[in-house]
Amino acid sequence: MAETSNTLVIDFKVSPKLKAFLKVNNYSAYFIICDSNTLKYCLSELVLNCPVLKNAEIIELEPGEENKELSVVNHIWQTLTEFGADKKSLILNLGGGVVSDLGGFAASTFKRGVDFINIPTTLLSIADASVGGKTGINFAGIKNHIGTITQPKAVFINTAFLKTLPYGHLVNGFAEIVKMALIKDKTFFNQICGLKIDSSFNDLNIIKRSISLKSVIVKKDPNEKGLRKILNFGHTVGHAIESLFLKKPQPLLHGEAVAIGMAVECYLSLLFKRITKMEFEKIIACLKLNFDLSKIEQKDLDTFYTYFKQDKKHKNDVYQLALLKGIGNCSFDVKVTQAQLEKAIAYYNSAIANAS
Ligand SMILES: NC(=O)c1ccc[n+]([C@@H]2O[C@H](COP(=O)([O-])OP(=O)(O)OC[C@H]3O[C@@H](n4cnc5c(N)ncnc54)[C@H](O)[C@@H]3O)[C@@H](O)[C@H]2O)c1
Repeated sequence: MAETSNTLVIDFKVSPKLKAFLKVNNYSAYFIICDSNTLKYCLSELVLNCPVLKNAEIIELEPGEENKELSVVNHIWQTLTEFGADKKSLILNLGGGVVSDLGGFAASTFKRGVDFINIPTTLLSIADASVGGKTGINFAGIKNHIGTITQPKAVFINTAFLKTLPYGHLVNGFAEIVKMALIKDKTFFNQICGLKIDSSFNDLNIIKRSISLKSVIVKKDPNEKGLRKILNFGHTVGHAIESLFLKKPQPLLHGEAVAIGMAVECYLSLLFKRITKMEFEKIIACLKLNFDLSKIEQKDLDTFYTYFKQDKKHKNDVYQLALLKGIGNCSFDVKVTQAQLEKAIAYYNSAIANAS
């Protein structure tokens, strides 16, 4: 168990800590937000361990990234209103990053903010999305376009939930763990870079390390004024890729898009002589071991750049990216021109991406 701030409790099972939290805070009502999968696979374990939740209202959402949108937040606000939620209500987000982003956003805006906690159930949300307070939805086809930074009152982590998580989603979560290692901890990267994730992955040491690296950064810069921007490594390109693929019959998972983003942004780091060729090759080998790095098709490039320009880090036609400075180190607001970006995408397509 690790405590990283006053408002963040990380626990490794649905445990007395959650019960104690609920008892101490004496909330007027509980609203559990889940999707149909976490309702099926995770809700009963939660309620069994915390009988006080058996009278909670359940707000069940459709699963999937395409539901991280305003009409779903509207539905949550409506349900909270119909069931008389007040300022002393607690919202429990039981699910992956989609549920915690949606539920956190709905909670942070309902009556100007009610308490919420995250109980993450995917590797991605355990290792990343549930921690740090970023909430939000996609809007106008743009990833995370509308949102808030609001810290959950607590995060309760139970890796037993991973047992029912489909393999692809385990790999998806691993992308954020690789990112944390690359930007902050060379030893950690060396430890995980040869790891091929299998369906029983549940390594507490790796998970704890990733969370603690993120927590330290968030604690130093909760509102992303500076340092926290390094968490965007791989995401500036990754979000544009994810937006692009959202419209395709086979959308990419967030982690798959971030893995492509990391490959492209690693090439930019190499171009700027911030990492060596050897480091670059080691990182690409690590990404290829777990991720199917899809090509960005020529016909999609204009749309890709449109999404890219929507990114919050874009100013005056020069992009500001977080780029590596050696493995385990990263700096933010590194200026990248359109020509340099195009060169990186061309290199990615010709030398890194899968042929098919
Ligand atoms: N707020 C942040 O800091 C932050 C950070 C990284 C990513 N994100 C966001 O997180 C989202 C991706 O999160 P995700 O990968 O967790 O996706 P997700 O929430 O869509 O979950 C993935 C799938 O797994 C299912 N599922 C969840 N838990 C399960 C379990 N225990 N057993 C079986 N099935 C289960 C879900 O129903 C869903 O179908 C993206 O929208 C991304 O933008 C947010």
